[in-house]
Amino acid sequence: MTTHRIAVLAGDGIGPEIMVEARKVLDAVSERFGFELECKAYPVGGAAIDAHGEPLPPATLAGCEAADAILFGSVGGPKWENLPPNEQPERGSLLPLRKHFNLFCNLRPARIHPGLEHLSPLRADIAEQGMDLLVVRELTGDIYFGSPRGREGEGEQENAFDTMRYSRFEIRRIARMAFEGARKRRKKVVSVDKANVLATSMLWREEVVKIAEDYPDVTLEHIYIDNATMQLLRRPYDFDVMLCGNLFGDICSDEAAMITGSMGLLPSASLNESGFGMYEPAGGSAPDIAGKGIANPVAQILSASLMLRHSLGESVAADAIDAAVSQALADGCLTGELTGPNQTALSTAQMGDAIVQRIQQGE
Ligand code: NAD
Ligand code: IPM
Ligand code: MN
Repeated sequence: MTTHRIAVLAGDGIGPEIMVEARKVLDAVSERFGFELECKAYPVGGAAIDAHGEPLPPATLAGCEAADAILFGSVGGPKWENLPPNEQPERGSLLPLRKHFNLFCNLRPARIHPGLEHLSPLRADIAEQGMDLLVVRELTGDIYFGSPRGREGEGEQENAFDTMRYSRFEIRRIARMAFEGARKRRKKVVSVDKANVLATSMLWREEVVKIAEDYPDVTLEHIYIDNATMQLLRRPYDFDVMLCGNLFGDICSDEAAMITGSMGLLPSASLNESGFGMYEPAGGSAPDIAGKGIANPVAQILSASLMLRHSLGESVAADAIDAAVSQALADGCLTGELTGPNQTALSTAQMGDAIVQRIQQGE
């Protein structure tokens, strides 16, 4: 029997709550499809600061290195916000993990589930036309990692600065991923930039146009980030692949998530050139609902599905998870952030159970 080794990094806030549900779902598919999962849990983020004094302990990194894939929850929260920047959960664990494993390609598929158009906050006549898009977000460059960054001066003169920086190489490799992705979809790439202002965006356009020449079957459009956020609300159904730098992709993916109804529905895959990946919900630790057992586990569960598909070669099991999630949602199984005033909301655990049940029934 094939054995896959998974490093499980649940993290903070709702992370551990929704990770329990993802693990139930993984157990259900490994049982049904006959493969072994060796899941080892490691501390990360605020939880690791509390237990070990640092957000990314060496044993956690070593555990990730020894694994076939990383399943990540979320990190951060008010408790750790006042630590020195590089000791905080996000800058001290999540971003270093992305950089360490060279996870430059972040895939965030967002879809209004057919029949669930009413969950979208958009006007019905727009939501009814659906949305099925893939944000391809560059994840290891841009203003997140550019140097110099910091502060200088004093008093009123003190200033802070970050550097937005992209190399031709970085742009080309993420652009290729977007065009490859589009080939398997509706063959449309919209490249998001701010080329009317930013030097990085001008270089971005130059390189994206060059890569497009290798994909004559895929159409390419350019759109400025400000207009992109507007057009997403006006005609979300028109988008297929959105190719974005790190910062613009961060923004567009939260917006796309909300168009589907909830941040708790959007999974993500972060991949390097050899296919190794870290899989995590696009949303965060949701301190406003943490500890209440009401968070939506779907994004974490669909992230586990992406892991089976992209890193572990278990696409049949991934299909079964996706189908079970769609079926559960279509059957009206919804967590509290998605229900209306007269509807019953499922808890995090009940939502996980509803999905497990549908996997076991072979739906
Ligand atoms: P957030 O995504 O945690 O929450 C934004 C809103 O979405 C909140 O109202 C929250 O309740 C809701 N939400 C998110 N996930 C949900 C789910 N599964 N079910 C139901 N509702 C859900 O964003 P934030 O409040 O800006 O950030 C909170 C903390 O999380 C910060 O410390 C931030 O840095 C961190 N964060 C971490 C990650 C990560 O680890 N990958 C990602 C984003 C934010
Ligand atoms: C995300 C998050 C992270 C990001 C933060 C927590 C560093 O918002 O994964 O979208 O900005 O990339
Ligand atoms: Mn984000």
